[in-house]
Amino acid sequence: MNHALDSGIPKRMRPDAPIGVFDSGVGGLTVVRQLMSALPDENIVYFGDTARVPYGTKSRETVRAYAADDTAFLLSHHPKLIVIACSTVSSVALDVVEELATGTPVIGTLKPSARLAAEHSISKRIGVIGTSATVASNAYQLEINAIDESAHVFSKACPLFVPLAEEGFAYHEATRLIAREYLSELASEQIDTLVLGCTHYPILKKIIGEVMNEIAGEPVRIIDAAEAVASDVAAVLREKRLLNDSGQTGVRQFFVSDVPQKFRAVAELFLGMELGGVSQVRL
Ligand code: DGL
Repeated sequence: MNHALDSGIPKRMRPDAPIGVFDSGVGGLTVVRQLMSALPDENIVYFGDTARVPYGTKSRETVRAYAADDTAFLLSHHPKLIVIACSTVSSVALDVVEELATGTPVIGTLKPSARLAAEHSISKRIGVIGTSATVASNAYQLEINAIDESAHVFSKACPLFVPLAEEGFAYHEATRLIAREYLSELASEQIDTLVLGCTHYPILKKIIGEVMNEIAGEPVRIIDAAEAVASDVAAVLREKRLLNDSGQTGVRQFFVSDVPQKFRAVAELFLGMELGGVSQVRL
């Protein structure tokens, strides 16, 4: 018998409610991977808007409209918390998601990355790579400077990294070539820390890190916010007494808006596990 249900507690306020996670495509899986490792009992509902990826080359208004659709879809699964596993949405539409979520906690990628970058940079010269929309929003710079006024932030839009990640080109020479082109400008700013300001980029982390070190001539610290996002999720759930500690591996459901087969192939490669099923939904 389910006592929580009996006592009329709404589903989203129960520990067995899922964590809702969304992104424009496969990028948010970099956050899911960390969530699965930090919080293995949690049920997860993931939505990747593969019909409309990329978001980062679109206007602010369009991204805000997409973010509203994505949030509405996740809310239909009664999540206890929503993770915006998309830095573009976190940069330009956090308020849209929070407003629709009405009381359901929302965690984006910006704050955890900014915190890590400010903590780790010694020279206080920090590079941020992200989509065109994220870089144009200046959101990372504002967030980093809110923590440390003295930090110098150098941003570079790297739009081609998103399709490369969607193709699963994690170790491909084409990725290396494009990384050299994008990162050389940042290297000349003598940064000691580089924020992966797009959740797709950790898929290409190995090559981005190698190329960055090679052109910088010394090690540059790479900040991937996924781990920090997972630990923020754990902290919020603990505080709200919503952690799922059932002792059973959580159920993970994956939804996309187009071509589930392709998403599945890249996702399985990246997560290193078989996905039960990927369902296609129309928003
Ligand atoms: N993964 C997303 C981000 O973190 C979006 C990439 C895109 O769709 O352009 O910005």
